[in-house]
Amino acid sequence: MMLAGCSDLGDPVKVDAPPVGTAGSYVNDVRPIFNTHGCLTCHTSGSTTDFTGILTSYSTFVSVPSFINPPVLIVKPGDPGNSVLYNRIENTGVYGELMPQGGPQMPKSDRDLIRDWILQGALNN
Ligand code: HEC
Repeated sequence: MMLAGCSDLGDPVKVDAPPVGTAGSYVNDVRPIFNTHGCLTCHTSGSTTDFTGILTSYSTFVSVPSFINPPVLIVKPGDPGNSVLYNRIENTGVYGELMPQGGPQMPKSDRDLIRDWILQGALNN
């Protein structure tokens, strides 16, 4: 008799879709989303030793281990499903509560832009 395969329960969100549309840009797409949705009103300290400084510059969150859920990366280039930031904005609950904290959830178009930018390698472009 065959044993059942691994359960998907509790796994981070699965992202199989290929990148769509034009290439995402950190400067032109992702940073403006952080500004528009108030991320940088809370994540503002510039600290490199806790979550208060994440998002304030590229190097504070891309390929940086989560302070809340180490060693998972805040953004893992090429892998939104295993990026804390993408799980937070999709509200999967896997690595903590929704961001922006207190909501509302960002529109799908903005979440998809961030997903595609991560899928395309989360470049500092
Ligand atoms: C009202 C304040 C507030 C706003 C607005 C906010 N955050 Fe946060 N964020 C927090 C706090 C507080 C924590 C730490 C507590 C927790 O884990 O939920 C946190 C944690 C995080 C983490 C996890 C950091 C880690 O080390 O794992 C990420 C990623 C994140 N925020 C991204 C965002 C993004 C992206 C936005 C905008 C869409 C945003 N936040 C908006 C307060 C905020």
